Parts: sequence; structure tokens; C-alpha cells
Amino acid sequence: MPTSDAATGQRARSHATRPPDARLTTPAIDVRGLRFHYPDGHEALRGIDLQVEAGERVALLGANGAGKTTLALHLNGINVPDEGSVRIGDLLVEESTFAEVRRRVGLVFQDPDDQLFMPTVGEDVAFGPANLGLRGADLDARVAEALAAVDASQLADRTPHHLSGGERRRAALATVLAMRPDVLVLDEPTSGLDPAGHRELVEVLRSLPMTQVVITHDLPFALELCERAVIIGEGRVAADRSTATALADGQLLARHRLALPYGFDPGHVAPPETA
Ligand SMILES: Nc1ncnc2c1ncn2[C@@H]1O[C@H](COP(=O)(O)OP(=O)(O)OP(=O)(O)O)[C@@H](O)[C@H]1O
Ligand SMILES: [Mg+2]
Repeated sequence: MPTSDAATGQRARSHATRPPDARLTTPAIDVRGLRFHYPDGHEALRGIDLQVEAGERVALLGANGAGKTTLALHLNGINVPDEGSVRIGDLLVEESTFAEVRRRVGLVFQDPDDQLFMPTVGEDVAFGPANLGLRGADLDARVAEALAAVDASQLADRTPHHLSGGERRRAALATVLAMRPDVLVLDEPTSGLDPAGHRELVEVLRSLPMTQVVITHDLPFALELCERAVIIGEGRVAADRSTATALADGQLLARHRLALPYGFDPGHVAPPETA
């Protein structure tokens, strides 16, 4: 059983140092006592408590099967808790709020093919905002804005299944950004990216102001992007620390089947800019 330091207050960011901004009085994400089992009886989440402030970027780390994706699917109501609660800002996630929650929380799936289903990338990016009622020039502007944000304007007329893996990832991110979400949740966003694509994704995500939860096994990526790391182990929060501190703790990493690339020195990466 992984040991927990979540309760000891080793949080990355001191509330005392944050400005008294009204936006920050309600966490962007507030998960309390969340328990969830799948229909086959498997208990995937065993009491998750997690608060994320507006504008924070948090890496969600942990072994295969730890419960990261299951947790992410609760943040926009795809999964519904057995016990406990999930709030997005002031909104309790429940059936009556699903539509608004899904506008506020943009979930980028691990597999971009789960997100792209229209004949062209432009139509895929337009799909969500069109459902919100945008039409004509407003819709065109929204699509152009989202594609430009991920440097994918040139992909608008391309067929998603003809794109490279990295291009597909950017297109999938654009479909979510087109909804102008308050919270962005990305599940394994670097898998399949070449080094340049990796670098570009870091730059894109750093340029976006919204709250971000980034599920990843890519520890250098987590360190570059997120000041705070939450390690999920066996359906619980096993650690909640600064990413730099977590990555410097070899025993913690080993307990959760995490490892830095050979020769990687976490001390040599510039910390992410604070939001
Ligand atoms: N549809 C399902 N039915 C039953 N069990 C499931 C289902 N989806 C996931 N699980 C189980 O729930 C647990 C948590 O799975 P989850 O996908 O959340 O893990 P994860 O941390 O995202 O892992 P990975 O790093 O491999 O993506 C695992 O034991 C998994 O086998
Ligand atoms: Mg997963």
C-alpha cells in the first residue's frame, strides 16, 4: 500500500502566497470522498480528495491501473460517483448539470481517434460550438481561434484519419479548446509525439491560461509543465507535492512504478511559470 503524504500538507503551492482574488475562493475542481466501482465490481476509486485552484496545472501520475483515467472521467460526468462529490467551480457534477459541466471541462482523450469523427478537422472543431448554438461568422471565428491555438490552421480541410499521430493530437485538442473550457483535462497527451511535437505541446499548454489536469507517464513533461504533481495509487491520492520534490524521491517513484529517463536530472529543468 503506498504511503500518503497528501494529509501532511506537503502541497506545492501555499494558499498564503496567492493573491486574494475572488476567482480563487472556489477551487476550479473540488473532489471529495470519491469512490467508484465499475459494473463488474472492480473498485477503481477508493476515496479521492483533490482540490485544484483556478489556473493551476497539475500532473496526475501513477502506475497503470491506478485510477487516473477513471478519475478524469468523473470530472465531466462520464463516470458518476458511488459516494462522494465532484464540483467544477460552484457546480456540483450531477445529471442536471452535465451539459454545463461538459462545457466547462474539456477532456482530451488518450486516443485522438475517440475525439475525431467528422469528414474534416474543421468540421470536428466546429461540432461542439455548433451544438452550443454558434453559427455563421461566429462559428468560423471560433474554429479558426481553436486551430490557431494549437498551430493547426493548415489542417482545417484535412481528413482526420489521414493525419499523422501528432497532427491528430493537435486536432483533438482544438476540438476541446473550441468550447473555451475553464478546465482542460488531458489523458496521456504526449504519447506518440516526436520530440518536436512534444516541445510544441509544452509551449501550447503553457500558453493556455485555464486550469489544467495532465495525466502522464512522461515525467520530464510533467516537470516542465506542472508545478504540482498528484500521484494516484490504488484508487487513492498517495502523494500531493511539488513535481520537483516528487521526481527527486526515487522511492516514491518506484512504489508507483514511475521512472525518470536514464540520465535525466530533474534539477536541470526550468520550473514552469506560475499561473
Ligand atoms: N470499463 C471497466 N470495467 C472494469 N474495470 C475497469 C474498466 N476501466 C478501467 N477498469 C479498471 O479500473 C482500474 C483503474 O483503471 P484506469 O483506466 O483508471 O487506470 P489508469 O490509472 O488510467 O491506468 P493507465 O496508466 O494504464 O492508463 C484498473 O484496475 C482497470 O482495470
Ligand atoms: Mg489511463
